[in-house]
Amino acid sequence: MKLVVPRVHACAKDARDDLQTENNSKSEEAMERIGVMTGGGDCPGLNAVIRAVVRKAFQNNIKVIGIKNGWKGLITTDAMDLDLNSVSGILPKGGTILGTSRTNPYKNEEDAKKVIENYKKLKLDALIVIGGEDTLGVASKLIKENKGMNIVGCPKTIDNDLSGTDFTFGFDTAVNIATEAIDRLHTTAESHHRIMVVEVMGRHAGWIAIYSGLASGADIILIPEIQIDLDEVCDILKKRQARGKGFSIVVVAEGSQFKAGQVVTQEERLDAFGHVRLGGIGETLAEEIEKRTNFETRVTVLGHIQRGGTPSAFDRVIATRFGVKAIDLILNKKFGYMASLQGTEVKEVPIETAVVKLKTVDMRLYELAKTFFG
Ligand code: F6P
Repeated sequence: MKLVVPRVHACAKDARDDLQTENNSKSEEAMERIGVMTGGGDCPGLNAVIRAVVRKAFQNNIKVIGIKNGWKGLITTDAMDLDLNSVSGILPKGGTILGTSRTNPYKNEEDAKKVIENYKKLKLDALIVIGGEDTLGVASKLIKENKGMNIVGCPKTIDNDLSGTDFTFGFDTAVNIATEAIDRLHTTAESHHRIMVVEVMGRHAGWIAIYSGLASGADIILIPEIQIDLDEVCDILKKRQARGKGFSIVVVAEGSQFKAGQVVTQEERLDAFGHVRLGGIGETLAEEIEKRTNFETRVTVLGHIQRGGTPSAFDRVIATRFGVKAIDLILNKKFGYMASLQGTEVKEVPIETAVVKLKTVDMRLYELAKTFFG
C-alpha cells in the first residue's frame, strides 16, 4: 500500500460553471489517499459500495480512510483505515460498517469550517460521499464553496427520490421487503374478511408504495404525489365488497396527505435537515375507513424493517458498480460528479442535479397502477 503523503490542496478557480475544465486543471495531482463516508438513513447496499471502493482503490494503489458516522466524522475527525480485510465478508450485510448519522454541518458555521479543515488534516486527495438528498446536498454546497475538497458521490436511499439516476441502491431491497410483507398480509386479510392498511416509507415520494403495491396486487395505492380522497377510497372498497371481495389491501406512503389536510406527523420534531418525522397516516386512514364503511380494518406500519437486513442481488450489483465508478471518477479527476444508473449503464452526473429537485413518481406509472384499483 502507498505511503501517506501530506499534500496541500490547490484552490480551484471560483466559478464552477465548467466542472470539466476545472477538473483538467488538477490532472497533475496524484490520487493516493481518499476518504469514504456514509450519511443519512442507512440502507441495504452501503457495505457493498464501501467494499467496491476499497477493492478498486487497492488495485490502483490508493489508500482508503473510512470516515465514521457521515459528516459527523469529518467534524470530529473520527476515521479508520480500511483495507482488504476490513471489507471482507461485508457484501451481504445490511447497514454500514462506517456508521451513519443525520448530521448537517451547515446548521452551524463552525462545523462546516471543521469539515473542510479536517479533510485537509486527514490529508485526503478526494472524498467519496455515499448519501441521499441531505448528505449529497451538503456535498453539493461544499463543491460550490470551492474550498479545495475533491468530492464524488454515490446515490443511496430506499426512497428512490434522487434525481439524476434511474434508481438508487436500497430501493429494490425495500420494495422486496414491503412486497413480501403485503403478500403475507393478504392471507390474513382474506381469512378475516378485513381491510388491511399498510403504511410504507418513502418520505415525500411514493416510489416504495407504487412499486410494492403493484408487485403485490394492492387494491388501492396512496402516494404523496396525489392527495387522498377518502370518499373515493371508500367507494372503491365498497364496490369490491359488492362484487364479493370481502377483503382489501390499501398501501399508503408515509408522506401522503388527505385532501385539504396536513401531513400526519409522529411528532413535531424536525431533524438536522429540517425534515418533519413522518409516520401515522396509516393509523388515521384505517380509522377513517372503518368509520365510513363499517368494514373491519387493521393497520400495519412497516417502518424501519424496510431499511434493514441483507441487500437484494440487484442492489448489491448496482452498489458495487457505483463504488467502482466512484473510484473511476476520482482517477479521472471528475470531481463534483456522482455515479448514476441510466438504463443499464452506470454513468455520471453532477452531484447538484441529484439534489436540486426531488424525483417523484412518474404519473404514467400511477395511471397504470390505477388499472388494478378495486
Ligand atoms: O430516507 C429514508 C427514510 O427511511 C424515509 O423513508 C423515512 O421517512 C426516514 O428515512 C426515517 O428516518 P429515521 O430513520 O431518521 O427515522
